[in-house]
Amino acid sequence: MTSQALDEIKIGGLGSSRKRVEDDRFIRGKGNYTDDVVLPGMLHMEILRSPLPHARIKSIDASKAWEIPGVHLVLTGEMMATRNLAWMPTLSYDTQAVLATDKVRFQGQEVACVIADDPYIAKDACEAIEVDYEPLPPIVNPWQALAPDAPVIRDDKVSQADNVVYNWEVGDKAGTDRAFAQADVISKLELHYPRSHPSPIECCGSVADFNRATSKLTVYMTTQAPHIIRAAVAMVAELPEQMIRIISPDIGGGFGNKVPIYPGYVCSILASILLERPVKWIEDKTGNLISTGFARDIYLKGEMALRRDGKILGVRMHTDADHGAFFSDAQPSKFKIGLMHSAFAAYDVPVAHLTARGLYTNKAPGGVAYRCSFRVTEAMFFQERMVQAAADDLGMDQAEFRRMNFVKDDDFPHRTPFGFLTDSGQYAKCLDVGLAAIGYENFRKEQAEARERGRLLGLGISTMTEPLGAGNSREYDILGIKMFDSADLKVHMTGKAILRTGARGQGQGHETTWAQIVAHELGIPADDVTVEEGDTDTAPFGMGTYASRSTPVAGAAVAMVSRKIRAKARKLAAHLLEVSEEDIEWELGRFYVRSSPGRGVTIQECAMAAYSNMPDGMEPGLENTAYYDPPNLTWPFAVYIVTVEVDPETGVWDVLRMVAVDDCGVRINPMIVEGQIMGGLTEAYAMSSMQFITFDADGNCVGSNYMDYLLPSAWETPGYELHSEVVTPCPHHPIGAKGIGECAAVGGPAAFVNAVIDALTGTGVRNIDMPVLPDRVWEAITYRRDVSGAPPVRQD
Ligand code: CDP
Repeated sequence: MTSQALDEIKIGGLGSSRKRVEDDRFIRGKGNYTDDVVLPGMLHMEILRSPLPHARIKSIDASKAWEIPGVHLVLTGEMMATRNLAWMPTLSYDTQAVLATDKVRFQGQEVACVIADDPYIAKDACEAIEVDYEPLPPIVNPWQALAPDAPVIRDDKVSQADNVVYNWEVGDKAGTDRAFAQADVISKLELHYPRSHPSPIECCGSVADFNRATSKLTVYMTTQAPHIIRAAVAMVAELPEQMIRIISPDIGGGFGNKVPIYPGYVCSILASILLERPVKWIEDKTGNLISTGFARDIYLKGEMALRRDGKILGVRMHTDADHGAFFSDAQPSKFKIGLMHSAFAAYDVPVAHLTARGLYTNKAPGGVAYRCSFRVTEAMFFQERMVQAAADDLGMDQAEFRRMNFVKDDDFPHRTPFGFLTDSGQYAKCLDVGLAAIGYENFRKEQAEARERGRLLGLGISTMTEPLGAGNSREYDILGIKMFDSADLKVHMTGKAILRTGARGQGQGHETTWAQIVAHELGIPADDVTVEEGDTDTAPFGMGTYASRSTPVAGAAVAMVSRKIRAKARKLAAHLLEVSEEDIEWELGRFYVRSSPGRGVTIQECAMAAYSNMPDGMEPGLENTAYYDPPNLTWPFAVYIVTVEVDPETGVWDVLRMVAVDDCGVRINPMIVEGQIMGGLTEAYAMSSMQFITFDADGNCVGSNYMDYLLPSAWETPGYELHSEVVTPCPHHPIGAKGIGECAAVGGPAAFVNAVIDALTGTGVRNIDMPVLPDRVWEAITYRRDVSGAPPVRQD
């Protein structure tokens, strides 16, 4: 008898480019975002922000605001302090002011809140609050922060005598020194990865609803990690955790911006408790751009010890990270600078040493992982810029230098020089696919010919491997909470199912792809599986969605819970078929008797039996929960190759072609994976070419609106040529998948910058800091010098 297994693609299983089910409501305008939540009796909150980057607060007079009709409450730092809420703990063991009491420490910092009948009254009342500031000198970069006479920004902390947040090191210092002593060539590069902002289309916001009658606090909010927020609210506000319900409704993009806990959330919660009415806070775009979730702003001093034939002998890196006034992003507790030490994981580097220093400055809290796994984006950017410089210093071909130093296919698991264990990959094959696609040899000839005619063509290669899927819980925790994730699957008697996970998608397509994993494991068509996330009253505990951890961890939990369901369904099948369990075989969607394959029962028949015909002694129902603690991170790999033409007269550069070869293991939904890659490449292009958000010498945020901070539209976005032919299944993930959400945003920027620098070969220019704006390129070409992007410093 031939197999009666279901056709996996037809039921929307693994490998099916199933259309995104969530788009049905999004394209009809029926999404339900935080700002769509309207509750009876709801009030509105607005925040008064500091105009100054650094100033002592002499007094705050809110009396005029209180007098405005329609105002219900004015919150100031002083009032918060009486409730022990003026400061809150951050996700990195620091503290952050909720509302300023003693000083303001960055432009845009929260100083007071007004809660009123509508947002317009609240905004007007904010302007009626009189704050008397005594300005202090602003510090806008690490070098100012380190100056001996620098004012101590965090003088609120008794033990803080300077502006250093941390000093951290990893690797083998003595071994690295020895490698450098033996080097034929030492290649050096200094770089700045500028501040950037995730700028999701939807800003942050919350609707807090405290019900005095039931003592239940419900908060609708834009968080990527609802369970962590529930725990934080329980601990900080000393409310019983079971009486707190956090709901993340639809989220209009997160990209890491919605991981930290913001003062606005805390104030709206307190206001609702005090007023016993729902309080809504919706941030405006400038508020979002100047005060929340900045990324990057890290300086590198990098050195590579090289043998004349191209072998990398060792790597030295020192980074200075500008964290702004509060160290408030999330890091795994053990790693002060996130996963910066994932640098060079794809290269066979015998020894390396990294020192990292974090500094406080008068800027909004920075360091969020904008579409990346902690500090991986910076790590990969520094790595690929250093690799290009090293190949140039050796006079070697870019591709050949990489190929020679890659970890080989049979060298996995591979211990990296900083201690990670990478799982699998086919790095050289990915490179070859990319080089063939771009027509590498031909381009090099074309480039040489063009140069003779005064045309500047360039080709940039960037490769990346990213540790995705924190935990495992042995090594990864945030504030002591171990990193794992969860899935809960309930199969109803008709064979339809509801799946809930501890992740929280923000546009990635979880509602579509998690159902595909269930379809793959159980043969229940994906259309019969509803996926829900983001409600702490119904979803199992999880660490949320960021750092592309959903597929590696929550996705694995979905496979594992499906397998638990299948194990019980097997017992039901044995009962229905009147044979022992050992005589039962599984094919997609059906159990059958090994000796008589025609006799079988479908998974749906097993589901019905779980509620109507279970064997004696078996617990009724077909439901289960799985908590998945991954044995390791997953390590996707990618090669991005860009060709550009630079106009020597103006410095304007255009992308000619961009090829992307991504190996993320088994692709659950190839269409969604391609969408993730295109989105990431577009963000990479934006960061490298146009996004400029910085601080002037007076500490003013430059780029606080979309006129200055540019998001590429379809007009500017280059076309991408995507390649999916290299698939290295993850050896430890239940369905062989690796994360993909961030790879292109992580690996992309270096490809663009490398291409422009390659076009300037012969000018002596080694670096132009991002964003590689035309005026910077023009300056580099005209004056034959590197162009730094470090923020300016006042000279007076
Ligand atoms: O954590 P986050 O959802 O941001 O990132 P991810 O786990 O890399 O997944 C992004 C989207 O791509 C999700 O909808 C995944 O299910 C999908 N994906 C996939 O179809 N195949 C993979 N191997 C990885 C992700």
